[in-house]
Amino acid sequence: MITTYRAAPGIDVLTTAFPVPGFGLIPVNAFVVHGSEPILVDTGPVVESNDFMAALRSVIDPADIRWIWLTHTDFDHIGSLHRLLEENEQLRVITSFLGVGIMSLAAPLPMDRVYLINPGQSVDVGDRTLTAVKPPAFDNPITVGLRDDRSGILFSSDCFGALLDEVPESAEDVSEEALHQGQVFWGTVDSSWLHKVDRAVFAADLERIRALNPTMVLSSHLPPARGSSTERLLDALAAVPDAPAFVGPDQAALEQLVGADAGTGAAAVP
Ligand SMILES: [Fe+2]
Ligand SMILES: [Fe+2]
Repeated sequence: MITTYRAAPGIDVLTTAFPVPGFGLIPVNAFVVHGSEPILVDTGPVVESNDFMAALRSVIDPADIRWIWLTHTDFDHIGSLHRLLEENEQLRVITSFLGVGIMSLAAPLPMDRVYLINPGQSVDVGDRTLTAVKPPAFDNPITVGLRDDRSGILFSSDCFGALLDEVPESAEDVSEEALHQGQVFWGTVDSSWLHKVDRAVFAADLERIRALNPTMVLSSHLPPARGSSTERLLDALAAVPDAPAFVGPDQAALEQLVGADAGTGAAAVP
């Protein structure tokens, strides 16, 4: 179920929490940035599109949205993308060249409705300028986060996400230990390539984010975190390369989880 709350003046969160059996809850957030040209950052999970649209309508008339910033094309970010494009002819989608390319394999984006951006480039959207930021961790090379110059908020896409036991409306309401552990674990799952990074290069990349000095970090998979928490978020990310690698449950674990029935088809598999 998608619910909404306000993260900062003029910024609403549309959120749901997906259970990952045995590991906790992963929040899935999209954001509405109100202004002279309202922006929707990502469009919710595919499986909850109806709920998402209802929640969206409770915070803004979708006809008023001017921009969708699509951070990347994973199923938890593109849920209502095409519905919104069909419903609102003035909407344009800000994303990367690779984002348009991967969408063309499933549900092509009309080229006159896209606005291509690369990290470091900016786009003026009425009363604010949005600058594309490559987050230091991601699960998809398409990923472009953004910094809103008006609020100083960093929208970090999957980066800084966390598996949590419960999902409050503020990261500061999660204990330091749970936040750290949840974030490190998420990092090993979502960005497993971090185990291979050059530590010094990665540290420099984290410094790049530190230098942005965000007033708030709005991750797709973490409750809103105030700027005063940025250092903690960066510390957790810095720990990911040397954390234990994630290994998912195997068939034996699945059978234990759901009972012996799950294994009945195994004999037929060569
Ligand atoms: Fe993702
Ligand atoms: Fe995601």
